[in-house]
Amino acid sequence: MTVTIVGAQFGDEGKGGIVDVFGEAADVVVRYQGGDNAGHTVVREGTEYKLSLVPSGAVRGKVGVLGNGCVVNPETLFDEVDTLRDRGLDPDVRVARRAHVIFPYHRVLDGIEEEVKSESDGNLEVGTTGRGIGPTYEDKAARHGLRVGDLLDPDVLRERLSYVVPKKRALAEEVYGVDTDDRFDVDALFEQYRSYGERLAREEMTVNAGAFLTDRLAAGDDVVFEGAQGTGLDIDHGTYPYVTSSNPTAGGASTGSGVSPAVVADGEVVGIVKAYLSRVGTGPMPTELGGVVGDTPGYEEDTEGRREELATRIREDGGEYGTVTGRPRRVGWLDVPVLRHATRVSGFTGLAVNHVDTLAGIEEVRVGHSYTVEGEELHSLPATTERWGDCTPNFRTFDGWPEFDSSAVAAEGYDALPAEARAYLEYIEDELDTPVYAVGVGPGRSETVVREHPL
Ligand code: IMP
Repeated sequence: MTVTIVGAQFGDEGKGGIVDVFGEAADVVVRYQGGDNAGHTVVREGTEYKLSLVPSGAVRGKVGVLGNGCVVNPETLFDEVDTLRDRGLDPDVRVARRAHVIFPYHRVLDGIEEEVKSESDGNLEVGTTGRGIGPTYEDKAARHGLRVGDLLDPDVLRERLSYVVPKKRALAEEVYGVDTDDRFDVDALFEQYRSYGERLAREEMTVNAGAFLTDRLAAGDDVVFEGAQGTGLDIDHGTYPYVTSSNPTAGGASTGSGVSPAVVADGEVVGIVKAYLSRVGTGPMPTELGGVVGDTPGYEEDTEGRREELATRIREDGGEYGTVTGRPRRVGWLDVPVLRHATRVSGFTGLAVNHVDTLAGIEEVRVGHSYTVEGEELHSLPATTERWGDCTPNFRTFDGWPEFDSSAVAAEGYDALPAEARAYLEYIEDELDTPVYAVGVGPGRSETVVREHPL
């Protein structure tokens, strides 16, 4: 049995907490895309673990797999594994030999490209996490990337580095006019990455992910696919070019792990929704309440319809600061066209709605029910980001709900939620024609109301 967890918005929907709750019964937790751009916080026995690459299940004694669709920075991988070991855990992490490797030059180029874009006319700066994600996937698509399996064979490693590194150095020096250092030096990189390969081999961490997972499933294991980022950041189905470079949507769980689409479709696909909207980085956001000048590229204060004060209140109460970058997030009302789009693309069989507690105490809660653009009403996301930017939301208004005792509600169950909050959740269920399996009512793992457990 599999459960695929997908962010329905722009990341930061609280996927980690839901993976934690639903993954408790799982044996294997798999990441299928992205790299160390994906911050997740796991609390175990009162201790907080902040991870950006290692699947969160590894903290709870599950096998954690980084699938072939991931891009892996070995430095981060070993840092996180060592930190967990220092804290007394024994994480079992496996890495696909087909996964691509992030090198130091990828990070440098990520930074340079963002800087150049920020100086261009077209507001092209994405606001990336600076982890080298885009440049690594670029190399994968250009067929000159290096894969985890290449680190295990020194001859192949040297051969591949000798081809690609001079190209990267020329790009940095001749196109962008910056000085390069050891991060663009074949010999230095060879030594460093050969030693990573030796450690991966010594600790028997690498796997043929598709075969490994198929065997585990055949042996009766339950597998959770843990999507990072969210549908709006999907390179195909998100708000291009303000996206990440991989597929967080459910199709990615198959291509990014090596199990067939039938395996994913045979299981549950749970869309994770935050009761409002947040976004880090550039791109339109029709239901935006407010961002932070200086932290959101291109963001300007005092635009009509914005309510900075309410945005600040939600940001503070909801802890809306990036786990990886620490950046304050932009905040907006729930955008239902985004959710309809996400539901169609990934085929959600259930939903988890988080941060319902964060909106408590607000007198009137709004949702962007549909958009109007050029006189036409749209119920889903238009295919071009420019058109999305021209959309005006048509709001629906809900009575707010009072503050409530999260632990009591989590203990008593769904019916203990304030009636107004239930009306809000039932609206979401109806609009997406998908049942709400779980409701997040607080940051702690125990503060989740589970109505239906997919495993
Ligand atoms: P990149 O993935 O670092 O290339 O960044 C591309 C876009 O995705 C930027 O807007 C980032 O802010 C956003 N992004 C990447 N990872 C996350 C995440 O884990 N949560 C929210 N946004 C993310």
